[in-house]
Amino acid sequence: MKIPGFSPVILPALSWVLALATPARAETGYDGWLRYAEADDVSRQKSYEKSLPAVVVTLGNSEVEQSAQTELIRGARGMLGRTERIETALPAENTILLGTVEELKKAVPTFNAPAGLIADGFYLKTISVDGRKILIVTAVNDRGVLYGTFTLLRKMGLHESITALDDQENPYAPVRVINQWDNLNGTIERGYAGGSIFWANGHVVPDLTRVGDYARLLASLGINGCSINNVNADPHAIDREHIPELVRVAEAFRPWGVKLFVCINFGSPKSIGGLDTFDPLDPRVIDFWNKKVDEIYTAIPDFGGFIMKADSEGELGPSAYGRTHADAANVVARPLKAHGGIVFYRGFVYNHHADWRNLKNDRARAAYDNFHHLDGQFDDNAIVQIKNGPIDFQVREPASPLFGGLEKTAMALEVQITQEYLGQQRHLCFEVPMWKETLDFDLHAKGAGTPVKALVAGKVFHQAVGGFAGVANVGLDTNWLAHPLAMANLYGFGRLAWNPDLSSRQIAEEWTKLTFGNDPQVVKTISDMQLKSWPAYENYTGPLGVGGLTDIIEVHYGPGIESSERNGWGQWHRGDTYGIGMDRTVATGTGYTAEYHPPVSDLYELLKTCPDELLLFFHHVPYDYVLHSGKTVIQHVYDSHYEGVEQVEKLIEQWQSLKGKIDEQRYNETLARLEYQVGHAAVWRDAVCQWFFKMSGIPDKYNRVDNDPNRIEAESMKLDGYVSFDVKPWETASRGKAIEVVTTNNYGSASFNYAGKPGWYNLAVQYYDQTNGVSQFTLRVAGQPVDHWLADDLLPSRNVQSLPNGHTSTRHTARGVALRTGDEIKIEAVADGGERACVDYLEISLAKP
Ligand code: GCU
Repeated sequence: MKIPGFSPVILPALSWVLALATPARAETGYDGWLRYAEADDVSRQKSYEKSLPAVVVTLGNSEVEQSAQTELIRGARGMLGRTERIETALPAENTILLGTVEELKKAVPTFNAPAGLIADGFYLKTISVDGRKILIVTAVNDRGVLYGTFTLLRKMGLHESITALDDQENPYAPVRVINQWDNLNGTIERGYAGGSIFWANGHVVPDLTRVGDYARLLASLGINGCSINNVNADPHAIDREHIPELVRVAEAFRPWGVKLFVCINFGSPKSIGGLDTFDPLDPRVIDFWNKKVDEIYTAIPDFGGFIMKADSEGELGPSAYGRTHADAANVVARPLKAHGGIVFYRGFVYNHHADWRNLKNDRARAAYDNFHHLDGQFDDNAIVQIKNGPIDFQVREPASPLFGGLEKTAMALEVQITQEYLGQQRHLCFEVPMWKETLDFDLHAKGAGTPVKALVAGKVFHQAVGGFAGVANVGLDTNWLAHPLAMANLYGFGRLAWNPDLSSRQIAEEWTKLTFGNDPQVVKTISDMQLKSWPAYENYTGPLGVGGLTDIIEVHYGPGIESSERNGWGQWHRGDTYGIGMDRTVATGTGYTAEYHPPVSDLYELLKTCPDELLLFFHHVPYDYVLHSGKTVIQHVYDSHYEGVEQVEKLIEQWQSLKGKIDEQRYNETLARLEYQVGHAAVWRDAVCQWFFKMSGIPDKYNRVDNDPNRIEAESMKLDGYVSFDVKPWETASRGKAIEVVTTNNYGSASFNYAGKPGWYNLAVQYYDQTNGVSQFTLRVAGQPVDHWLADDLLPSRNVQSLPNGHTSTRHTARGVALRTGDEIKIEAVADGGERACVDYLEISLAKP
């Protein structure tokens, strides 16, 4: 149905398409940080032209060394606009020489590699031989040569000097891997950036160009392994039919030194092996895994190994036979060992049917309780992969105590690049500062000076292997992660896995320079935005370590404050009319604090020392409990939520200050996401503040909560074809109510008369954009249509049904509207399908001059 009197101008959706198509200099983001843009500073350009020799000689023939050469040529072409000349022997002129130490010894006998270079590390050195300058990139293995080449190019991208190189770098830990959670049908578990680049319709995709390009991005950071299927693993990923397909992925990875890993299902001996058991101690099961591993290595000799999620969230595991996690890990570790492979055994094991009424139950204890007593029983190529915090990638968690609880077991720290609980790549949330807090946290596992990074790298208890795993949901979206600024998280993970001592600012600045250029204003603004984004997200979602204010049941996106309570998932915050927080103390609670070594255990056990930001993680307190900051808990909750929204408003202003300095495509895409974010941050703020007000009965000192003088509730407007209804959960609508169209012709309107002063205003309509329909809205002032839009966004929603709630609540703002006292303001809608054009309220604010 067409709305009478509306003459279509440009629909927002169409203008988006036009924006994508217009500027010649538009950048899609596909190149990530490997854009190799021309140096914008002429003197810098000239200096590189002088210091980078025109000839490249590559001593080895391996695919990886050849990639290094190709990359060098590509980078120089992009940044300097010239093509390096390939020679096979050292010419009588300045040269770039790529090769392993072994190869170099033969070519330049006088050259001495530094002592202490380890696998994957590299050495960049400028030497003079007979008056010629030779720029050497060398390493003990070919992967190191590739990493050295990427580093040389990065230095140029960052405008660093390359005239007299003498740089040695070693990776902090041998394990630096990515876990993609892709399903064989082409969807991605917690995927927010399009379908899988690896799989479709049950098979590896025919064209693996993007897989190769992804491996190149990973290699540029020093990432040396990647698993390509969901941890909730389909056993068929390793069946006879799929192994030849895995071979193709391994081939796409190989030139970039990225090893292929696959997630396995512990029930495989039964589901694909034809056995009637998957008992890890049964000889037939042992035989199944031995043969399966041999079969894979025959096809893929450099196969990396397996990831295994067992006895977790419904996945089969060793408990079915009364066996231990060590038994389960070792049955695959043993055959893998013969081929140099490893198994990552996930420490994410907990009971998701826990009795919520028992105040001693505690999911945070699960990893430690399940694994600590098994220390020493895992084979040395079985790595226990542990999430950064004890729950599940929440916005604030303490470091998992298990990192300090395993002394004879190899470990990997698992972080989530995927922003599952952090705004799903619709919100800007740079995770590096959050990861840094875990990496640098001293668990005092062997006295002072045992930060998590050192423990997982095996530097404290001397495990043979260990390191870092990042869960990513790179998808078919052109820019890989949907939000143009989200790639900083992938970049940041890789950089930290290589060197966890880098600072968050350094990483943010590097990424910005490589992604958007070296203009100091651009670098400062975007880095600042990134660094402020996690604190802002924490402020408007879940402060004080409360966790679980989001809808934890399925979507993990918008607010759903009570969804975590009264069920077995164990993400309880125990908020009621008296107070809030999980008592995890030894004295009166679950005893979780005892899983830390002193003095950390004491720090968290005692209210007087527990840091404010984790207070509600460790303690149950009344709402008027006074924090170290001097504020009460309740006032902190109110203030932080208002502050969080203001912080996002500032992010928008900061971004807008870069107009003209960023290519139009990425500028517009980012602005659109930030504008959506500020609206959704307000949904979060209002939901949390309303809920806490209702629970505690304590008003906001500044009288902001439940008091929005510029807001006109839809249910209080004059309704035609619309009726009011109760939104569920109630806190995801202002005052708990919204309106929905109930007419059979789908038309509805809601109107009121403006009672304020005349002037220029912005009118924000807060409505619910569900995925089960595309409703149309028109906003009229005194009869004149001033805006028209479609509710056609694909906001996160439950798999079963998209509903009006905290996930779908969004806003559309008509800016610069002239209002006169007495004007009728009318929202007209045409509902569509299951989407009943639900509206929450309209908010009027002064337009900025
Ligand atoms: C989270 C996530 C799941 C995932 C699980 C895991 O709970 O929501 O989708 O399977 O983590 O890490 O295994």
